Amino acid sequence: MARFRLPLALLFLAVFAAHSVLAQYGAYDYGFDAAKLIKRQLASQEPVPVVTGAEGGETIRPRQEIRQLEQDKELWTLYILGLSLMQFTDQSSPVSWYGITGIHGIPHQTWGGVTPTPGNEETGYCTHSSILFPTWHRPYLALYEVLLYNLIQNIAKWWPEGEPRNRYQAAALRFRIPYWDWASSPPSGQSVLPLSVGGSPYVDVNGPNGVQRIANPLFSYSFKPLNATAFLQDPWDIWTTTLRSPTTSDNKAQSNNSLVAVNFDQNLDSIGQRLYILFSNYGNYSTFSNNAWIPYINNGSFDSLEAIHDTVHNLAGGGGLGQPNAQGGHMAYIPYSSFDPIFFLHHAMVDRIFAIWQSLYPSSYVTPMQAYIASYTTSRGEFQTAATPLTPFYFNANGTFWTSDMVRDHTRFGYTYPELVGVSGSVPNSQSRSLSRRARERVMAAINRLYGPSTPSSLYRKELRAGRLGPGKKVPGNLPAGRVFSGNGQYREWLANVRVKKQALDGPFFIHLFLGEAPKDSKEWASAKNHVGSMGVFASDERYGESKMDGMDEVMVSGTVPLTKALVEKVMGTGRSLDPKDVEPFLRRNLVVNIVKVDGKVVMHGSYVEGLGIHVVSSRVRAARVEEELPAWGQAESGFDVV
Ligand SMILES: *[C@@H]1O[C@H](CO)[C@@H](O)[C@H](O)[C@H]1NC(C)=O
Ligand SMILES: *[C@@H]1O[C@H](CO)[C@@H](O)[C@H](O)[C@H]1NC(C)=O
Ligand SMILES: *[C@@H]1O[C@H](CO)[C@@H](O)[C@H](O)[C@H]1NC(C)=O
Ligand SMILES: *[C@@H]1O[C@H](CO)[C@@H](O)[C@H](O)[C@H]1NC(C)=O
Ligand SMILES: *[C@@H]1O[C@H](CO)[C@@H](O)[C@H](O)[C@H]1NC(C)=O
Repeated sequence: MARFRLPLALLFLAVFAAHSVLAQYGAYDYGFDAAKLIKRQLASQEPVPVVTGAEGGETIRPRQEIRQLEQDKELWTLYILGLSLMQFTDQSSPVSWYGITGIHGIPHQTWGGVTPTPGNEETGYCTHSSILFPTWHRPYLALYEVLLYNLIQNIAKWWPEGEPRNRYQAAALRFRIPYWDWASSPPSGQSVLPLSVGGSPYVDVNGPNGVQRIANPLFSYSFKPLNATAFLQDPWDIWTTTLRSPTTSDNKAQSNNSLVAVNFDQNLDSIGQRLYILFSNYGNYSTFSNNAWIPYINNGSFDSLEAIHDTVHNLAGGGGLGQPNAQGGHMAYIPYSSFDPIFFLHHAMVDRIFAIWQSLYPSSYVTPMQAYIASYTTSRGEFQTAATPLTPFYFNANGTFWTSDMVRDHTRFGYTYPELVGVSGSVPNSQSRSLSRRARERVMAAINRLYGPSTPSSLYRKELRAGRLGPGKKVPGNLPAGRVFSGNGQYREWLANVRVKKQALDGPFFIHLFLGEAPKDSKEWASAKNHVGSMGVFASDERYGESKMDGMDEVMVSGTVPLTKALVEKVMGTGRSLDPKDVEPFLRRNLVVNIVKVDGKVVMHGSYVEGLGIHVVSSRVRAARVEEELPAWGQAESGFDVV
């Protein structure tokens, strides 16, 4: 079951190493001032951008995985040119890259005339640790998608009249933003981090004015210019470009995407399992949607879509696992994360998980919950409901905003995802709310194919297919699977439930779990063979006091690190079982917790981390027998406290 990826990471490193010299690459030269032309067109439009989705939301087309989109040559060219044009649009425009990405956090500016509620001026519009986390980001992506879609329609017109223009215009109509699947196995020989995103600071693009080398708009965004006042503190106020795993914290810093790639590859099994468990065992939107930890929380629902998303943010921002005196990159810090082009790829994946989840659990949705953290227009403690305006995303030109109720069916924005083509399970009317059995089975089969491979449940199916397990079969004692599964595919899953204060360390950090001692040098943690998984806590940089104002200081978050796969590998080697009598003593002796901030500072002891609690739990699970089924989880049973 183990998939060993280190050689790939090394390969990636070699690809990356060639680009270590910093160079400045520019925009595509169309032979005329494209940015100016676009600016004129924008000026003639409504002052308030209304979020309609591509093609007015009229035609539903799938958003594709980025590697899939890359196969569509014309569309890929248009995508790169569209991103580039958006990034080279004057930053003062609300629909420039800077304008759109600036909605999320920094520069804490009013967008579309939507003013902050008093006291919340020093925060962004985004909602975190909130019941609105998945729904707020949905119209945000739709806004980005429609703007990019419109740019791409323009660009397609700049090809010479006749066959080429027709071809590009036809491709342009198909455009929907891609997602980046960070939880399924990449094609053989590749890293989870696509080369198109992390491989090179420039890209050669064959546009309407011939082949040109331009700044790769997926690699970074270069501020034009950086507003040092708005970026508050060093190094943010000296970094003129977005960075991933920055090599230093001075103005010579460069991205180390090879380190980011290693970290993603190392965490793939853990992230894939978390996602698989989320689909299988989190049927309640309240717990599925966000990472806020509630003291009386059920021990079987510590994880969430947001918690997994947090880990991906930290891994993409990097740091913490390599350079002792470095610094995390933009993605690891809530207020700066959205400027990095990988942000929207990541969030399209988050939205896809949300949409797939909705198709499985169509009757569970937003229920009122207090806001733990303030946003630009929400004060702490305010109740958020399915009718709360998702500011600043306008539904129409006279000032109505989208709400969670209105975005429940994502297809209103004219997109869907490959697994949901023809499935309308998230449409909020009583007739379509229950999916047909066939449609549900198709979705579950896709989940099994993409996220099942490293789970015990799929090991069971494999053994079953091979005729080695199943009802009436006597499992040979020497067969490892025989020690894991009982007669009807029952087995035990083990998890580490983690909770901690979000701002415990005044910035983002990782909680790493190992079976056995971790390497002494924290640089080697990422690639250590006994590394089981990480929980990333996505936080603010506390130095300028933002989080004290918005309440982030107080909030507790939770997540999980699955242990079963690592245990199965150990159990198989030693003849033990997954029963508590074998596992608990083993884990008590071997489970090691290490904590490191993304700025590389290692925290010497868990007791120094405010609010940290790690508790091992297990659940009886019935493995799926067929691909069109997910495992069935029993209640979580309390094990023991690690910290
Ligand atoms: C730079 O940021 C400051 C603080 O947010 C703001 O007042 C100022 O208008 C910004 N400058 C420009 C040119 O946008
Ligand atoms: C980037 O990270 C890799 C993997 O950890 C490391 O070997 C390499 O030295 C780093 N490169 C730089 C320029 O720091
Ligand atoms: C969903 O979870 C919330 C929070 O734990 C709880 O209050 C609510 O009763 C749950 N809903 C259902 C239908 O179980
Ligand atoms: C959850 O685990 C805790 C230990 O951290 C235990 O005290 C508590 O009883 C458990 N709750 C449930 C509902 O099992
Ligand atoms: C303005 O909003 C109201 C209330 O939502 C709606 O009934 C009306 O149709 C809207 N008018 C326009 C021009 O969109």
